[in-house]
Amino acid sequence: MNDRAYGLISKLERTHSLSLEEYEYLITSRTEDTARLLAEKAVSARKSIYGNTVYIRGLIEIGNVCKNDCFYCGIRRSNKNCQRYRLTADEILQCCCNGYQLGFRTFVLQGGEDDYFSDELLCNLISKIKSLYPQCAITLSLGEKSRESYKRLFDAGADRYLLRHETADSEHYSMLHPSSLTLESRMRCLYDLRDIGYQVGCGFMVGSPYQSAAHIAKDLKFIEEFKPDMCGVGPFIPHHDTPFASKAAGTLELTCFLLSIIRLIHPPVLLPSTTALGTIDPIGREKGILAGANVVMPNLSPGAVRKKYMLYDNKASDGAESAQCKDTLVRRMASIGYEVVCTRGDIIR
Ligand code: 5AD
Repeated sequence: MNDRAYGLISKLERTHSLSLEEYEYLITSRTEDTARLLAEKAVSARKSIYGNTVYIRGLIEIGNVCKNDCFYCGIRRSNKNCQRYRLTADEILQCCCNGYQLGFRTFVLQGGEDDYFSDELLCNLISKIKSLYPQCAITLSLGEKSRESYKRLFDAGADRYLLRHETADSEHYSMLHPSSLTLESRMRCLYDLRDIGYQVGCGFMVGSPYQSAAHIAKDLKFIEEFKPDMCGVGPFIPHHDTPFASKAAGTLELTCFLLSIIRLIHPPVLLPSTTALGTIDPIGREKGILAGANVVMPNLSPGAVRKKYMLYDNKASDGAESAQCKDTLVRRMASIGYEVVCTRGDIIR
């Protein structure tokens, strides 16, 4: 391994910070050896905080109607081939009931940006879930909203909010999104959420179209500065009914490399080994954990709608991706030396 890369990895482990140029160098000069060393250090950083535990979240995809038209996403408004659905409040509560019995203590409500799910509807739903399961955390992943809406949902009982920043470079942001969506507005949301009191998650896709190592360096610098409680990072995977249908997918190798770096930047971060990682490799989820991730989010949505929440082609939704197959997940995590725990799984600072 070259001396510079070795020196940068030690510096990152010690100071949790590198310059943009240093991040970029670490990415472009990466080798199997540097990936191995980073993973070793990342795993030891996570072990000193979380031991060998893995947190689980029950993911409920509440609807795939979306008013946005992001170029990469399979549920974008312009995709006429997407079969749209919305779960009713009762269906969502039923998912929570199933999840609770399976041992889940965090429910993630995720969906497209859809005005049908008004603040009033969501607040009623959130208070209902909280009254039925007071010891559970509720995470929302419902896109950009006004500060007032975020505040209402928080006051109703939501604990956490996931909103990937997608890319920290505004020019790159505009190559992935229509002009109605801006990085500025995304950042405003993230800082509002933090300010209101949510535990906040940002994140980005690895290998999204037009992404360069310099862009990724900016993502890492943003993570270093924002210090998110959670960070969702998974490979871009093309969807056949989007403008990016013929673009290449991101790789498992670079995703794992970045998971290790993110763990070292912010050791307490809740870092999921994502469904997208499990989709591009049959043991992708395990590889993510071995690179420094500590969260998995199996699917609790009703079987009938799972195939409709297709953000990208072949999105995994059965086997260990399915909450109903939690035993499979527990076994697979045990096989690499990790223990799935059934707690809220809050960040340990
Ligand atoms: N490949 C991988 N991830 C995707 N997402 C959306 N479309 C894709 C895709 N084609 C991610 C985005 C979004 C999250 C819900 O899913 O980063 O924030």
